[in-house]
Amino acid sequence: MPFPDGFLDELVARCDIADVVSGYVPLTPKGRNLWGLCPFHSEKTPSFSVSPEKQIYHCFGCGKGGGVINFIMEMENLPFPEAVRMLAARAGMTVPEDGADQGRRKRERLLEANRAAARFFNDTLGTPEGAAGAEYFSKRGLSKGIITRFGLGAAPDRWDALLHALGKQGFSKQELLDAGLAVKNRNGTIYDRFRNRVIFPIIDARGGVIGFGGRVLDDSQPKYLNTPDTPLFNKRRNLFALNLARKSKLGFLILTEGYMDAVSLHQAGFDNAVAMLGTGCTEEHAQLLSRYTGEVLISGDTDGPGLEAVQRAIRVLEKTGLSVRILRLPGAKDPDEFLRKYGREAFRVLTERAENHIEYRLLQIRAKYDLKSDEQRVAFLKEAVGLVASLPGPVEREVYGARAAEAAGISREAMALEVKRARAKLAKTQEKQSERQILRPAVSFQPKERSLRYENVRSAKAEEGVLRLLWMSPELFRKVERLGPEQFSSPFLGRVFELFAQRYRAGHGISPAVLARELTQEEMNRLTALLQEPESLENAERAMEDYIEIIETELIKREAARETDPLLLAQERYREKKGYGGTGNDGRK
Ligand code: UTP
Ligand code: MN
Repeated sequence: MPFPDGFLDELVARCDIADVVSGYVPLTPKGRNLWGLCPFHSEKTPSFSVSPEKQIYHCFGCGKGGGVINFIMEMENLPFPEAVRMLAARAGMTVPEDGADQGRRKRERLLEANRAAARFFNDTLGTPEGAAGAEYFSKRGLSKGIITRFGLGAAPDRWDALLHALGKQGFSKQELLDAGLAVKNRNGTIYDRFRNRVIFPIIDARGGVIGFGGRVLDDSQPKYLNTPDTPLFNKRRNLFALNLARKSKLGFLILTEGYMDAVSLHQAGFDNAVAMLGTGCTEEHAQLLSRYTGEVLISGDTDGPGLEAVQRAIRVLEKTGLSVRILRLPGAKDPDEFLRKYGREAFRVLTERAENHIEYRLLQIRAKYDLKSDEQRVAFLKEAVGLVASLPGPVEREVYGARAAEAAGISREAMALEVKRARAKLAKTQEKQSERQILRPAVSFQPKERSLRYENVRSAKAEEGVLRLLWMSPELFRKVERLGPEQFSSPFLGRVFELFAQRYRAGHGISPAVLARELTQEEMNRLTALLQEPESLENAERAMEDYIEIIETELIKREAARETDPLLLAQERYREKKGYGGTGNDGRK
C-alpha cells in the first residue's frame, strides 16, 4: 500500500480544490459552484466547474473531472504518487516514505538501466563492434561534437551484447525487459531489442534517459525501432531533443518529424529543434511544448498526407494557445536533407520567412478557387470570412481580413462587415451550445467505454443516486447496510460503492484521494460527472430508501428474467465454467 489513508485524508483536507484550481484557472463564483475556462480543452465560454462543497471539478464541455489529486495529475501530467508529493509540498506536509515509493524506486531503477545502456551504446561507437555505426554517422555528416552532445551510439550486431554488459553491472533480465531494452520471444528466450543499429537516446526535460530510437544502417525495414511504452516512456508524451532545445535562446521551438532532422538542425546551430517520435503531434506534445515556448515552427511535408499532418498539428498546437508558423522546405523532403543540400544560411532565411499559420491557411483557401470567376470569388470570400471570423484577436481579423479582401477584389469595409456578421452568428451558436450542455449535462454522458456502459438504466440511475448521497453525507451508510456491490447492475458503480464502503468501515471519510488512486482517469471522469449532478440532502434518508428499493426491484426483475431466458442461462453456465464468477464484479479486484 503506497500512502496511508490517513495521510491522504489530511492532504486532501488541506488542499482545498478551489484554491488549487484557481492557481491555474481564474474562477468566478456562480450559484454553488465556481466557473472558469476549461484547461483541458479549448473553449471561449466557461463550462469548467469546481464545487467547493463536493470538492470536485467537472467540465460540461469535455467531461473531464475528479478530485484535487486528479486535477494535479492531469494538469501537471504526473502519476498519482508524484501528484501527491506535489500537493504535500504545497501543503507543507511531509510524505511518509517507508515502502511508500516503490513505484518511484522502480522508475529510478529503470532510469539507471537506461543510463547505463546509453553509456554502453555510446562507448561501443569507439570499438570495432561500433565501427559500422560510427561510419554511418560520419557518412550522414555528423561531427564528433554533436555525437557527444546527443550521446548517440551503436548497438553491436549480437543478440546479447547489452544483456551481458548490463548484467555485469547488476541489472537483471527482468529489469531490461521492463525498460524495453530486451525482448522475450515465445519460447521464453530473452535477447537485446536493439541490434546492429545506430542509437538515439531519448532524454526527457529533466535529463533522464527514458528510451531509445535505433536506426538500421542500410535500407532494411523497419527503419527505426523505438522503445515500447514503459513506466518511463510513451512516445505520445515525449519529444526527442527537448532536453537540449529547452535551453535554447532562440525564443521559439522547431518541431520536426525525425531524429536525424533534430540532430542535423542542432549541428547547424538551430539548437531549438525537437522531433516527434513517429506519431503525429498529440495534445500532450502541445502541452509539453507550451511549457517551454510561446511559439512553434512546424516543419513537415506540405503536400500529400504530410499536409494533413501539418494541419492537424496546427490545430492541436493552437488549442494550447501557442502561436504557430509553418516552415516550407522547397526542394527537400525534410530539414536534414535541406541542410545538406542548401546549408544553414538558406534554412535561417526560411525560418524568418516562415508563414504565420493564418496566412498559410488563407493561401490554401485561395489556391482552391479561380478568383477570376465571379462565382468562385464569392465562394472564396465565404470561406475566407469564416476563417477570419474565427480569429480571436481584432488586430488579426483586421490584417487578414484586409488581405482576403484584396485577393477577392472587394473593399476592406465590405469585408469587415461580413466578418462582423459571421462573428455574431458564431457567438449565437456557441451560446446555444453551452446552454444546452448546462441544461442537460447527463445526456452526453452515457459512458463511452464499453465496460462503463449501463445495462439497466433505471437501476443504474438509482445506483448513481446512492453514490451521490453517500459522497455528500457518509453517515447515510447506516441506511445501506443491506446493500451489497453485487446488487448493482453496473459493475463500475458497484466497485465504487465497495470502495466507499471499505473506507467507511475503516473509519475514514470518502475522499476523492483514494478514488484517484483506485480508478482510472476515464472512470474518474465518469464518476465526477454523476457526482456533480444535483442531489438534495433534504429528505436524504427517504431518497436513499427509494433508491435502494429501485435497485432491489430491478434486481428481482433481472433474476426472474434470467431464470426464464435460455440465452441468459447459457451465458451464466458459460461464465461459471470459465470461472468468471457471477454478476456485480468485473474481476478487477
Ligand atoms: P522518416 O522516415 O522521415 O525518417 O521518419 P528520418 O527521421 O528522416 O530518418 P532518415 O533521415 O531516413 O534517417 C520520421 C520519424 O518517424 C519515426 C522515427 O521517429 C523517425 O525519426 N519512424 C520512422 C519510426 O518510428 N519507425 C520507422 O520505421 C520509420
Ligand atoms: Mn530524413
